[in-house]
Amino acid sequence: MCGIVGAVAHRNIVPVLIEGLRRLEYRGYDSCGMAVLTADGPHRVRSVARVAELDEQVSNARFEGVTGIAHTRWATHGAATINNAHPIVSSGSLAIVHNGIIENYEILREALRRQHYEFVSQTDTEVIAHLIHSLYEGDLFAAVRKAVRQLTGAYAVGVVHKDQPHTLVGARAGSPLVVGYGDGENFIASDALALAGSAEHVSYLEEGDVCEITLAGVRIVDFRGEKVVRNPRRMPAYSTGVELGPYRHYMQKEIFEQPSAIADTIPDAETFSPGLFGKTAGGVFRDIDSVLILACGTSYYAGLTAKYWLESVAKIRTDVEIASEYRYRESVPNPRMLVVAVSQSGETADTLAALKHAQSRGMEHTLAVCNVATSAMVRLTDFKFLTHAGTEIGVASTKAFTTQLVALFILAVTLGKMRGHVSDAQETEYLHQLRHLPAALNAVLALEPQIIAWSDQFAHKENALFLGRGLHYPIALEGALKLKEISYIHAEAYSAGELKHGPLALVTDAMPVVTVAPNDALLDKLKSNMQEVRARGGHIYVFADDDTHITSEDGIHVIRMPEHYGLLSPILHVVPLQLLAYHTACARGTDVDKPRNLAKSVTVE
Ligand code: G6P
Repeated sequence: MCGIVGAVAHRNIVPVLIEGLRRLEYRGYDSCGMAVLTADGPHRVRSVARVAELDEQVSNARFEGVTGIAHTRWATHGAATINNAHPIVSSGSLAIVHNGIIENYEILREALRRQHYEFVSQTDTEVIAHLIHSLYEGDLFAAVRKAVRQLTGAYAVGVVHKDQPHTLVGARAGSPLVVGYGDGENFIASDALALAGSAEHVSYLEEGDVCEITLAGVRIVDFRGEKVVRNPRRMPAYSTGVELGPYRHYMQKEIFEQPSAIADTIPDAETFSPGLFGKTAGGVFRDIDSVLILACGTSYYAGLTAKYWLESVAKIRTDVEIASEYRYRESVPNPRMLVVAVSQSGETADTLAALKHAQSRGMEHTLAVCNVATSAMVRLTDFKFLTHAGTEIGVASTKAFTTQLVALFILAVTLGKMRGHVSDAQETEYLHQLRHLPAALNAVLALEPQIIAWSDQFAHKENALFLGRGLHYPIALEGALKLKEISYIHAEAYSAGELKHGPLALVTDAMPVVTVAPNDALLDKLKSNMQEVRARGGHIYVFADDDTHITSEDGIHVIRMPEHYGLLSPILHVVPLQLLAYHTACARGTDVDKPRNLAKSVTVE
């Protein structure tokens, strides 16, 4: 999703801005642009192609400057055109980049039109540009502070004005913004990652903060206008390589990184103790009577899987809610609930807002299961469990998902033990199974050639159905999501028991049905569902545990999973579904790592 980079330096900052945009590219965007200050006003380049194309433009035009802002845009208001790409300029003197959505932009636009401002884009951002311009009286910092008071919605902005050639002003509410500190040069960005290699320290702005970046330093005020210090910390180490190595796409690389990501996520402890989630988690975990999981997308499916574990292992009532639903619906608050935000990025706008909504309703026991230690969600919650998946570049989440499952399983066993439902022997067994997971996953990854053979058949289909039962129902949902988001094949998942209540009407030989068939208590029921499909001429593709005795026959294609993995089986069974989606997308020639219209980190509603 949208990304911001800005810099004030003695040197030419164009390479810094291009590098920053490159680092943010993986989040997904559909246009990009940059402005540097010149004596005549902001000088701009924009592109509806990739950052590489923007780079070519700046090289060809000998585009240089010491103060500038840059942006990757994921269209919300107005199509992905050059005209709507940021930076947006007002009156030839001020340029702005913006992440987020301004909800009262129509009212503001009418007021600004009455002041004779002419609107040339369809963006909500142009309203902010003209508003700041209308309030500018020689002090950009003051004008931005006045302007943001009139905004409703979410924003992170970077603004420059030609009359202040060494000043950059930033502001945030609802969308993240960091300040970067270098040696005689300072920066802003929507994510510290963009400034790795440029800034030595970073600080994270809080809701309502406005900052002024100059060569001499950084000034920050909070929403009341009071001067504040936002604790600069060393730039996080982005050590996990973002190099592609021998893989064709980041998604493939990330699928194959799952054994090591999982090994890194499993704590080096001999017992499941609440201390894994925070020093004071013991007291709180003992007091809670239920769990509420809030998440979006793939993280929501991790939450759905966890519900099965939490209710069966820990015998604790668990609700899982799509964050964008929870934040707006009337629910019954329960202060004894543990609220668990599950998020790869820790910045997803809906999950963040749902978490704050729960807190505002008196639900103060909060835990983040997150892959980014410095994210807003981790900073907002009492307790945290960090997944160590490393940077995930592919928009379609893979290793972040399986490491979230590991984290949530550890939560279930920890609560189960505290509540007297997990014996010492079971605890040892669960630990053993967790530690063996990387090896078991390697055996699943070795199935890739068989899955490639299936993907050639899927590549010619336009629809697919995924079935699963129990713990594997959320895995079927995740498999369908993976296939639709990267191959653009319409895919739906159903709990297998629901087949006869609707989707069976769709089954023909043109509709492949993918079935996740672990050897668990529901296997016989699942076999019956498969027969229902076969009897209607449907073709079934089954990922079956070795000991299920499901064999290939006419219309039934079987890939055998190396071993049955009990409660942890979803972590193994999702992997062939990831590979199936990946290879089907490759066969269809889609942009696997950057699927159309999607973004990695969704920082707007
Ligand atoms: C986007 C991504 C998904 C991700 C979801 C939630 O839709 O494309 O891969 O699952 O956001 O993101 P989060 O960072 O909160 O896990």
